[in-house]
Amino acid sequence: MIQVGVNGFGTIGKRVADAVAVQPEMTVIGVAKTKPNFEAHTAGERGYDMYAAIPERAPLFAEAGIDIDGPVDELVAAADIMIDCTPSGIGAENRSLYHSYDTPAIFQGGESPDIAPVSFNARANYSAARGADAARVVSCNTTGLSRVIAPLNTAYGVERVTATLVRRGGDPSQHSRGPINDILPNPIEIPSHHARDVQTIFEDLDIHTMGLKVPATLMHVHALNIRLKSDVTAAHVRQLLKDESRIYIIPPGLGIDGAGELKDFAHDAGRPRGDLWENCVWGESIATRGRELYLYQAIHQESDVIPENVDAIRALLDMTDGTTSIERTNQTLGVGIGGTPTGLGESIQDPYPSASEWADQTHEFPPPDSLAYSLLREEGEWAYTSQTQPEWLIRERLPV
Ligand SMILES: NC(=O)c1ccc[n+]([C@@H]2O[C@H](COP(=O)([O-])OP(=O)(O)OC[C@H]3O[C@@H](n4cnc5c(N)ncnc54)[C@H](OP(=O)(O)O)[C@@H]3O)[C@@H](O)[C@H]2O)c1
Repeated sequence: MIQVGVNGFGTIGKRVADAVAVQPEMTVIGVAKTKPNFEAHTAGERGYDMYAAIPERAPLFAEAGIDIDGPVDELVAAADIMIDCTPSGIGAENRSLYHSYDTPAIFQGGESPDIAPVSFNARANYSAARGADAARVVSCNTTGLSRVIAPLNTAYGVERVTATLVRRGGDPSQHSRGPINDILPNPIEIPSHHARDVQTIFEDLDIHTMGLKVPATLMHVHALNIRLKSDVTAAHVRQLLKDESRIYIIPPGLGIDGAGELKDFAHDAGRPRGDLWENCVWGESIATRGRELYLYQAIHQESDVIPENVDAIRALLDMTDGTTSIERTNQTLGVGIGGTPTGLGESIQDPYPSASEWADQTHEFPPPDSLAYSLLREEGEWAYTSQTQPEWLIRERLPV
């Protein structure tokens, strides 16, 4: 069993601990905090041993009736790997602690990229982190962008990405953040820092990002324009993305018109904390014009990086390859709409068949990673203009 320590038990840390706890080959040996607040009680109730991130504060935990198992150094010494989920900048301060015990460490996206030799996204660069002594799981926005860019790059080649990120002002618990009643270009400088962060995953990518902050806590919403290296159709892209296990193509007809309904959808399905680990792409928004692709996606900032942290453990400890890790993480957490044990929308009839489902049903459309698929793309759009296909498949061009 891999012994995992989690330093910081807030928005990200508590989700990471719960995700690690359900992995068959991992166990959470403890978590560390500075304050005995409600999250410290949550940790105790979930059975996680508690370590004092600041040893002098240990008496405060005792006063609150919370047992402390030792200072954080003891947790680091005992762990096979540490996941640092402390606030931005504190991870950098903790780096020497992990190093002094020779304990591999995973940091979060709020840290500067130079904190670790590799920035990590399981879909895009799992193998780059295999055997490394540290990795930084990129931010929620970069994770969301990387999951879309990686398959498009493989299937069509990506020439340029232009992304407008409409960002939530803060997480639901961050009552001191804003804006309360404003719409802020944020950061005002263009391109925003997000472009540089995506380039820590796709080094040579031509990407331009602009950010805004709005009075919302639910999710981020991205408006994407991606220029591909070959002409595409909306139906092709929809099928390609639908085959991605961490992308949910929201079908039309559900009445999910925004982040609020998505979150309700997740709560209704019994998702823990209402989490949406998947990028949520509106199927109807996927539009193409020549080589230009457009789409809207919603990103649940509190949870999309959680499966990535689990995969990063397997990568750093070189436990298995990326495909196996992603599948295991998905299966244990229930990632993938319709997946177990907490899948969404199992009863919903999906009008967007994936390429593989299409092939099963019609024997006409090969899977996206096959040679036949790429030949089909070169040949044009015969699959979509067939009289046998429903109207929505033919609706592939933007009105000019
Ligand atoms: N929230 C998001 O949307 C999001 C998304 C992706 C990535 N991230 C990144 O994930 C990291 C963590 O963010 P978060 O949102 O989870 O922060 P958070 O909710 O503020 O949680 C931070 C946790 O760290 C603890 N902590 C504070 N100082 C500490 C120290 N010196 N040593 C150990 N623990 C300490 C805090 O507990 P105490 O109460 O005990 O001080 C709290 O449990 C950041 O790098 C952030 O950029 C955040």
